[in-house]
Amino acid sequence: MSRLRYAIVGTGSRAQMYLGAMAGPHADVAELVAAADSNPGRLDWSLSQHPGLGDVARFAPDALADVIAAKHVDRVIITTPDFTHAGYIVQALDAGADVVVEKPLTINEAGVRAISEATKRTGHQVTITFNYRYAPRNAALRQVIADGEIGVITSVHFEWVLDTAHGADYFRRWHRYKDHSGGLLIHKASHHFDLVNWWISDMPSRVFASGGLRFYGRENAERWGLTPRPDRGTTDSPLRDAWCLDLRTDPTWTGLYLEQEHYDGYLRDRDVFDEGITIEDNLSLVVDYASGASMSYSLNAHCPWEGYTVCVNGSRGRAELKVVERGRVLVDEQGRTVVDPSARPDLVMPDGNRSVGQTLTVQRHFDSAYDVPIPEASSGHGGGDERLLHDVFVGPEDDSLDFVATWVDGVRSLCVGLSANRSLISGQAVKVADLDLGDAFAALGL
Ligand SMILES: NC(=O)c1ccc[n+]([C@@H]2O[C@H](COP(=O)([O-])OP(=O)(O)OC[C@H]3O[C@@H](n4cnc5c(N)ncnc54)[C@H](O)[C@@H]3O)[C@@H](O)[C@H]2O)c1
Repeated sequence: MSRLRYAIVGTGSRAQMYLGAMAGPHADVAELVAAADSNPGRLDWSLSQHPGLGDVARFAPDALADVIAAKHVDRVIITTPDFTHAGYIVQALDAGADVVVEKPLTINEAGVRAISEATKRTGHQVTITFNYRYAPRNAALRQVIADGEIGVITSVHFEWVLDTAHGADYFRRWHRYKDHSGGLLIHKASHHFDLVNWWISDMPSRVFASGGLRFYGRENAERWGLTPRPDRGTTDSPLRDAWCLDLRTDPTWTGLYLEQEHYDGYLRDRDVFDEGITIEDNLSLVVDYASGASMSYSLNAHCPWEGYTVCVNGSRGRAELKVVERGRVLVDEQGRTVVDPSARPDLVMPDGNRSVGQTLTVQRHFDSAYDVPIPEASSGHGGGDERLLHDVFVGPEDDSLDFVATWVDGVRSLCVGLSANRSLISGQAVKVADLDLGDAFAALGL
């Protein structure tokens, strides 16, 4: 079988999943011929972790177009920080390749317009990897709704809570700047807004948002009596506390970040209570959809546990999906947050009343409630990553639930985050039709 030829840009944390797939389970269909990262040390370290890749050419990121031509690249995987996605997507499309890009598609309206124009100009494909669609529990909810079990959807209530390990992490590095990540409504919630669009097969039409930086950041640290503080988590300072991430506690973090800092000054472990953070940590939205349904949505990034609750109301009843991904955050003997709980099983104790787990309950009017069975899953993101990789590299065998997402789905999910970011500034509800998305509206069917 002939293999497709791939290039990858950005070889940080998320890239490891794609590198591993091309070195292992999908090596029969995918060949990585070239790789780039703005940090040459991280590029070398990452490629060294996947010997099955064989001989991969290294290139400077700004030589992407030349490399696509010279190496006959079919597809480019983009796993760089969010604010760089649009530029690399456009370069790859114009140079004749298809694209696989991590979410979010881009962080602003100009990025959407540029991508939309490039897809029209070139006819090449952009796949966006919305891995959460593939988690069996999320697919089960989609099936319940598609089967008409709860009738016509009238409203959704969706709460997502990020804990003091995962949620705090967005405040340590590039995600903490709105012009790098778009804020959590773009960077993180693009997953959530895509799920809702996909679950209820709808298109957002108007958004009102309220929120702010109410827990992390320097001003709040002063309110909570948490100053003075160390600048970074990798420190032996007596000021170190459980909010610090010590990169020495995990060999992957050491190799990927700590040992590569001298190349570019990228610090992965900055203090979550720093000055200058420009994203929000508490967010509440009301979203209207084209069908007439609406959603109340909230995101909190400093919860003691992690997971989500989705309630979908319909003309025939209601479905409730409740997920606990982590019951609580572990702290070691030195008061440091444990990044990988599997490395310290001795610290894991029963979670009391909040056990890791998931339930999908459906109840039709005037009827008993029943639980929908959810297939077991083992890979990351609720079992989504493994299935996603199959569809990215091999292609879907059965896509009756529309798992595969394109750039248009990426834009549809951004319509909520982009409108919400405008609403946070103006204090007013924002109509999606008032966004400056150019040609992309036609692709959305508007
Ligand atoms: N789908 C998911 O669940 C999921 C999970 C994690 C991350 N992501 C996405 O993956 C992407 C990467 O995130 P990450 O956590 O791996 O970040 P990271 O910081 O670990 O890795 C980013 C890499 O890009 C490199 N880089 C930075 N600027 C660059 C540039 N201009 N050109 C080339 N390389 C550049 C950095 O040196 C680094 O190696 C983001 O878009 C993020 O949203 C998705």
